[in-house]
Amino acid sequence: MKGYRGAMFPLLLPTLLAVIQWVLLASGGVLGSSQEEAAANNGTVPSLASLAGCQTSCGNLTFSYPFGIGPARCYRGPDFELTCNESARPPILFLRDGVNQVASSISSYFGGYQEVDIYFVKTIPVSYYGASSYNMTWDSPGNSFTLSYIVLNVTGCNFDIYFTDDDANITSPYCTLACPSWDITDTVARQTCNGTGCCPIFWDGTVKSFNLKFVRHREIVNAGLQSNRSSLWDHINVTTVYSALTWNIVDQPRCLSAKKNNINFACVANNSQCIDSDESIDLGYSCICNPGYMGNPYLLDGCSRDRGYNPAAQQKASCSRLCGKKKVPFPFGVEEGCFAREQFYLNCTNVTTSTLQLVNSLLVTEIDIDEGLIKYTGPDEEDGSVDPLSPNDPGIFIDSGFEASMKWVVANLTCLEAQANRSGYACVSANSNCIPVNSTNGYVGYRCNCSDGFEGNPYLYSGGCKDVNECRQPNRCHGMCQNTIGSFNCTPCPQNTVYNPIKSQCSPVKHQNALYGVIIGLSSGFTVLLLSMCGIYLTRRWKKNIQKRLRRMYFRRNKGLLLEQLISSDENASDKTKIFSLEELEKATNNFDTSRILGRGGHGMVYKGILSDQRVVAIKRSKIIEEGEINQFINEVAILSQINHRNIVKLFGCCLETEVPLLVYDFIPNGSLYEILHGGASNDFVLSWDSSLRIAAEAAGALCYLHSAASVSVFHRDVKSSNILLDSNYTAKVSDFGASRLVPIDQTHVVTNI
Ligand SMILES: *[C@@H]1O[C@H](CO)[C@@H](O)[C@H](O)[C@H]1NC(C)=O
Ligand SMILES: *[C@@H]1O[C@H](CO)[C@@H](O)[C@H](O)[C@H]1NC(C)=O
Ligand SMILES: *[C@@H]1O[C@H](CO)[C@@H](O)[C@H](O)[C@H]1NC(C)=O
Ligand SMILES: *[C@@H]1O[C@H](CO)[C@@H](O)[C@H](O)[C@H]1NC(C)=O
Ligand SMILES: *[C@@H]1O[C@H](CO)[C@@H](O)[C@H](O)[C@H]1NC(C)=O
Ligand SMILES: *[C@@H]1O[C@H](CO)[C@@H](O)[C@H](O)[C@H]1NC(C)=O
Ligand SMILES: *[C@@H]1O[C@H](CO)[C@@H](O)[C@H](O)[C@H]1NC(C)=O
Ligand SMILES: *[C@@H]1O[C@H](CO)[C@@H](O)[C@H](O)[C@H]1NC(C)=O
Ligand SMILES: *[C@@H]1O[C@H](CO)[C@@H](O)[C@H](O)[C@H]1NC(C)=O
Ligand SMILES: *[C@@H]1O[C@H](CO)[C@@H](O)[C@H](O)[C@H]1NC(C)=O
Ligand SMILES: *[C@@H]1O[C@H](CO)[C@@H](O)[C@H](O)[C@H]1NC(C)=O
Ligand SMILES: *[C@@H]1O[C@H](CO)[C@@H](O)[C@H](O)[C@H]1NC(C)=O
Repeated sequence: MKGYRGAMFPLLLPTLLAVIQWVLLASGGVLGSSQEEAAANNGTVPSLASLAGCQTSCGNLTFSYPFGIGPARCYRGPDFELTCNESARPPILFLRDGVNQVASSISSYFGGYQEVDIYFVKTIPVSYYGASSYNMTWDSPGNSFTLSYIVLNVTGCNFDIYFTDDDANITSPYCTLACPSWDITDTVARQTCNGTGCCPIFWDGTVKSFNLKFVRHREIVNAGLQSNRSSLWDHINVTTVYSALTWNIVDQPRCLSAKKNNINFACVANNSQCIDSDESIDLGYSCICNPGYMGNPYLLDGCSRDRGYNPAAQQKASCSRLCGKKKVPFPFGVEEGCFAREQFYLNCTNVTTSTLQLVNSLLVTEIDIDEGLIKYTGPDEEDGSVDPLSPNDPGIFIDSGFEASMKWVVANLTCLEAQANRSGYACVSANSNCIPVNSTNGYVGYRCNCSDGFEGNPYLYSGGCKDVNECRQPNRCHGMCQNTIGSFNCTPCPQNTVYNPIKSQCSPVKHQNALYGVIIGLSSGFTVLLLSMCGIYLTRRWKKNIQKRLRRMYFRRNKGLLLEQLISSDENASDKTKIFSLEELEKATNNFDTSRILGRGGHGMVYKGILSDQRVVAIKRSKIIEEGEINQFINEVAILSQINHRNIVKLFGCCLETEVPLLVYDFIPNGSLYEILHGGASNDFVLSWDSSLRIAAEAAGALCYLHSAASVSVFHRDVKSSNILLDSNYTAKVSDFGASRLVPIDQTHVVTNI
């Protein structure tokens, strides 16, 4: 997803304040359940069958239920009705209001965070002899939609622009449109958009409407008389650069009530679940497929196991299987329609240099079908995993445990599941087998290999696994050899013949004279001696090598190397970030006694501990399910070890000796802001307005520091009240950097899935 988070951080402070204000006010923010929504399903449960004949695209944009075009059965309630102007070139897709255009395909991702990119243009004619103020209002196209952020370019001249949303009371101009020279057009002004003839507006907030007010700030003498002035002087144009709406099912405020009123419950798919759109506010709900399932949870039969593999793609004629000199065997491919699943689409970016690119711009050096490995070089060489292409991608590339190579599987299915659906089964060659593949965290999926005695590409219908001629292989048979399909027969050499290893066949026995025998005996004895000495030397070296590699592999698994590097590269970190031993932490927490648990969350447990030097610490013990979370852990350590700020929770160190790494923080006694805001009767501390403001400012200060003052810019990406902790003086401490990103200072555009 494209994003402009980087360019938007000046707005984060007001947004944070607004969020905190909102949280404070939001005790009774129940949504009006609209009557239109109530009629949503009309008793029939949406399924692939009930949507037969419904349009799913407009031009090259695609969308899926609950969005739809045409008869009412094709979409869920009026909010989700789309219209397509087929006569426009290219066709234009509109949301129900006919004003907001859909700017990109509505993703088949139905996770907790669901967005539609929109686009609109407004042109306001202005006159120098007319009104001195103009305004423009944008309203959400329906109750189900909330603006999540917007980037606009506004052109015009001689105006102050005031931006107001639902409840803000803003008195100073957002920006000022100065006039450029007469002949500058809005197209030209927009290229720099620096305040002269054009100014950009970024807004990052959760609103249902906003208003732009344009107030002329000074008169220009004889402006109307200028004959060669451009349209900039007669119009205010508001153009969307990027904008996204979040959508939710809002006929019920939360999952709990939606499930009770189950006639219109949107999460109809088997193997789907409902999630509240916001933990703290009634904003409706959304649906997701259960782990291991993917697809559309809003359809009865929408969530299925991985169906991403299509063996039939190999039937396409004239597919190139080379990128320059590199082989690209099926199921991989370099042309549309020539690969078995989207993730196996490689980009042959330069034929002369045989440059083959995987997602994440990893450069592929070799595709190994036999071992199920893909070897690469590239920016992420140390990382060894590929972020999923889309949220529906089951993550079929995993760390192999070896440098610069990844294991891959063809689908996230068990062999039984895969074999049950023959049309999607990958091991199509005769004499091929399905083999299950595990990562360090458990089962990932399957791939194929050729049965014993066969070799080749098990993914091909014809010419896949071919018989191996064992008789041609050295040392397979010391006798008469006969190759059979899949095997071979070996019979001892007939009488009066002996196996001749040089000719690989039985030859008649020769009678040599005694002297010859002595010479042969002596020289072979000498050779044996020499060989065994060589052997001992080589074995020693080999053993040493293996041990070294094992150690390195083990270290890599815990990312120890990376951590050590991170910690040691920071000279003054020696006393800051420490690697604790498990024994020490066990002692500190009385063997992780349950009475020491401070809290438990989605990511794990937090224990209170007292170190041998009497420091009180909080110890976070994550339950790691996915490879990705190890990276999250590393991420958090990396970020926190580099930061020292009064309002950011302090990391003392970590422990790598457990399967699940432990993090050791400063103990923050007063819990989180969330607990104080929502603690109710159980928490008798009441936050004064001054304290609230101070906490907000402190948190904002910390974020500001992270964004702009720290040596590497850090985007926290998960700012919420439960992540703002309060110490004994109720000083704010920002915590939980698991989702954060480090961003080099000069990088302003950040690609993010959050
Ligand atoms: C859709 O079509 C437009 C114009 O025809 C083109 O600019 C755009 O890149 C296309 N998008 C995709 C995803 O193919
Ligand atoms: C909704 O239900 C009513 C009455 O059962 C029926 O007349 C109408 O055709 C249904 N509409 C749709 C879109 O299924
Ligand atoms: C569709 O687009 C065409 C060309 O832009 C325009 O002339 C027509 O009025 C549009 N139709 C509707 C229904 O908006
Ligand atoms: C917008 O302008 C219209 C008429 O020009 C006026 O009635 C309305 O009050 C204005 N709205 C705001 C929010 O200023
Ligand atoms: C907005 O601010 C003005 C001046 O500061 C004040 O008079 C007015 O009451 C405020 N309106 C709201 C809705 O807060
Ligand atoms: C908006 O302004 C930026 C400069 O800030 C410019 O790069 C971009 O092309 C403009 N976009 C549009 C759609 O005018
Ligand atoms: C904005 O850019 C224009 C060129 O498009 C330049 O002439 C003008 O001086 C710039 N204004 C400011 C305030 O930087
Ligand atoms: C801006 O306004 C002018 C005058 O109406 C118009 O010609 C131009 O197409 C508009 N620009 C955009 C991007 O809509
Ligand atoms: C392949 O890479 C080239 C150059 O980086 C890029 O222009 C092109 O869009 C890529 N194609 C695909 C299908 O990703
Ligand atoms: C491919 O690489 C060669 C050698 O580096 C270079 O000369 C050529 O311009 C590249 N071609 C493309 C299409 O990038
Ligand atoms: C693959 O499927 C299994 C169930 O067979 C599931 O537990 C696992 O989480 C899935 N893995 C991925 C990466 O989706
Ligand atoms: C793979 O993981 C499954 C459980 O996820 C386990 O039962 C199985 O023994 C593992 N296989 C191997 C070869 O490690």
